[in-house]
Amino acid sequence: MKVLRFDYDYESREDATLRLLCMSDFHRGNPWMDENLFYKYRDWGVENDCMVLLGGDYGECINSKDVRHDPNAVDWDYSTPDKQYRKVMEDLEPLKGKIKVMLDGNHDYAFWKRHNHNYVNWMATDLNVPYPGISAYIMIRFRRKTGASKTVESHILRIFTHHGWTNARTDGYKVKVIHDLKNIFSDCHLYLSGHVHRLGSVFPTNHLYVDERTLSIREHTQQYYYTGSFIKGYEEGVGNYVESRAYPPTQLGSLILEVKPNRVDGKKDKTINLFDIRQIPEGWMNGSRS
Ligand SMILES: [Fe+2]
Repeated sequence: MKVLRFDYDYESREDATLRLLCMSDFHRGNPWMDENLFYKYRDWGVENDCMVLLGGDYGECINSKDVRHDPNAVDWDYSTPDKQYRKVMEDLEPLKGKIKVMLDGNHDYAFWKRHNHNYVNWMATDLNVPYPGISAYIMIRFRRKTGASKTVESHILRIFTHHGWTNARTDGYKVKVIHDLKNIFSDCHLYLSGHVHRLGSVFPTNHLYVDERTLSIREHTQQYYYTGSFIKGYEEGVGNYVESRAYPPTQLGSLILEVKPNRVDGKKDKTINLFDIRQIPEGWMNGSRS
């Protein structure tokens, strides 16, 4: 766990749009990784002004001594963790400078525990990225420049991001486990999780508090997003774990969010949503957005 703080400077509210690319669960080394889709998201991140948050499970990281080992689930081009993480490192290199955090996933962490080799820490060091382990509390300070080098500090976007740690099979339980992140840090605007190989939002909640100056009840909305994966489910040929366990097919890819600062009246408004946060729809990939 680490607490991290970054700045996002802007000149006018109209032009201020922070883009967050939240990627997790690549599973390099698994033959069902959708490599082409991964590169589409990676390249979008390279070409666009954005901050990149990485959520773990970069390599499949299961060797032949592991009870989870399945010879049908080995991409023989990347059959060992060494080959997998070397490839992940190559793939992430073009995003260097944009990556703000690199979490562990359970696959990365299990290998570290069993074999005392921490690939994620090594990659984060090479990329000069904070390595907080499985979760991080991230503050992004939106600062509006008002000219003549004066800046007015405005709002802080608070994010809690965790790789996720659950064997939840039901959709209802997946809703519960991401909402449970609010029980750890209750004040965030945005909660992110990987691991369950789902992509997109879970319904929001509101956080209540009392404004100590006016003794009024205030609230802000809290949003929850799963950050996707790149493992295909049902393909022709020998089935993978998705098919053998009868998991439902899911949408692959990564999460892209746009965050804009809002104008709020702290004296009058009951709901103080400092930010407008929305997911960029898939259309960007077909050229309708960039
Ligand atoms: Fe995972």
